[in-house]
Amino acid sequence: MTRVRSIVRGVGGYLPQKVLTNAELAKTVDTSDEWIQQRVGIKQRHIAAEGEFTSDLAVAAARKALDNAGLTPDDIDLIVVATTTPDYTFPAAATLVQMKLGIHHGLAFDIQAVCSGFVYAVATADSYIKNGLANRALVIGAETFSRLLDWTDRGTCVLFGDGAGAMILEKTELAEGEPERGVLASALRSDGRHWDKLYVDGGPSTTGTTGHVHMQGPEVFRHAVGKITDVVYSALEKSGYSVDDLDWFVPHQANRRIIDGAGAKLGLPPEKVVITVDRHANTSAASVPLALSVALADGRIKPGDLVMLEAMGGGFTWGASLIRW
Ligand code: ACO
Repeated sequence: MTRVRSIVRGVGGYLPQKVLTNAELAKTVDTSDEWIQQRVGIKQRHIAAEGEFTSDLAVAAARKALDNAGLTPDDIDLIVVATTTPDYTFPAAATLVQMKLGIHHGLAFDIQAVCSGFVYAVATADSYIKNGLANRALVIGAETFSRLLDWTDRGTCVLFGDGAGAMILEKTELAEGEPERGVLASALRSDGRHWDKLYVDGGPSTTGTTGHVHMQGPEVFRHAVGKITDVVYSALEKSGYSVDDLDWFVPHQANRRIIDGAGAKLGLPPEKVVITVDRHANTSAASVPLALSVALADGRIKPGDLVMLEAMGGGFTWGASLIRW
C-alpha cells in the first residue's frame, strides 16, 4: 500500500531592505537597546518600504522557494498565505500572489491565525494534498506587521518586524517499506477566551479602521511556554517520536525568553534550537518559514532531519508540525 505524503521541495525567505535597530528606535520611543535585548532578545527588525505590500514580500519569498525547489509558478496548484496584514480587507493576499506569479489555475486563499498562521497553513495544505485537492502547494507566511503598530507604545512597537517566508509542499506516494518523510503530524489548538490578551483594536465590522496592536505582555508570557510544549508533545505523540528524536526545533520567533523557556521545558539542547528573533524580531506568521530558510541556507537542516515547527499567537491560537526533511 502506498502512502500519500506532503514532502518539502523548497523553502525561501525575504526580508525588506530597511533595518531598524534598537538604538534607532530609542531615538523616538522611551526605550533602550539594553532593555529590549534583555527582555526579548531582539537587536533589530526589518521594515517594509512605503508602497511595499504583504503580497510583494510573499511573492519575493515564493520566488526564492521556487528557485530552491527547481520549479516554476506553473507547477503550483494551491497557494495558502498565512497573514494578519493582507494588502486589502479582501480579496485574499493569496489571490494577489497568484496573480503576481502569473498562475491562472488552481486555488488560493488566506489563513488568519496570527503568529500561528504558518503552522496552521502547513497543516491545511498537507490535508488538501492528502485529500486529493492539490498536488503542489505554496505555503507562505507574510506580514507587514509594522503597519499595525502604535509607534508611541513602547510595550509593543519594539517587538515586531516585517518579512515573509515560503515553503513548497509536494504530493508524493511513498512505496511499501519506504521510510516516512514529509509532514508526519500536526497538532492545532485555539482558545478564544484569551482574545483580548493580544488583539488589534480595529476591523471592518467594528471601527472600520485598521487599528493597532494591544497586548497584555505578562499574560501572553504566562500562557506561552505551557501551550507551546503541550502542542509539541501532541505532535510527537501522534507520530510516535520523542523529544530526543528531534534534530531541530524551529519555534515561532516572538521572544528569546519564551523560546528558551519552551526549549528548557522540553529538555532540548540549545544547539538544536533555531533562533532568528535577534535579527528579525517577531514577524508573526512569517517567523517560522524565515527561520527555516536561514537554517537551510546555512546547512544546519539536512535531508532526513526530523524538524519540529511550533507557534503560538493571538486568539489564542497555537500549533506544531513535525516534518521529516
Ligand atoms: N522599554 C523600556 N521599558 C519598557 C518597555 C520598553 N520597550 N516596555 C515596557 N517597559 C516597562 C513598563 O512600562 C514597565 O515599567 P514600570 O514598571 O515603570 O511600569 C516595566 O517595563 C515592566 O513592564 P512589564 O510589561 O511588566 O514588563 P515585563 O517584564 O512583563 O516585560 C514583555 C514585557 C517583554 C513584553 C513581556 O511581558 C513578554 O515578553 N511578554 C510576551 C509578549 C510577546 O512575546 N509577545 C509577542 C506576541 S505573542 C506571540 O507571538 C507569542
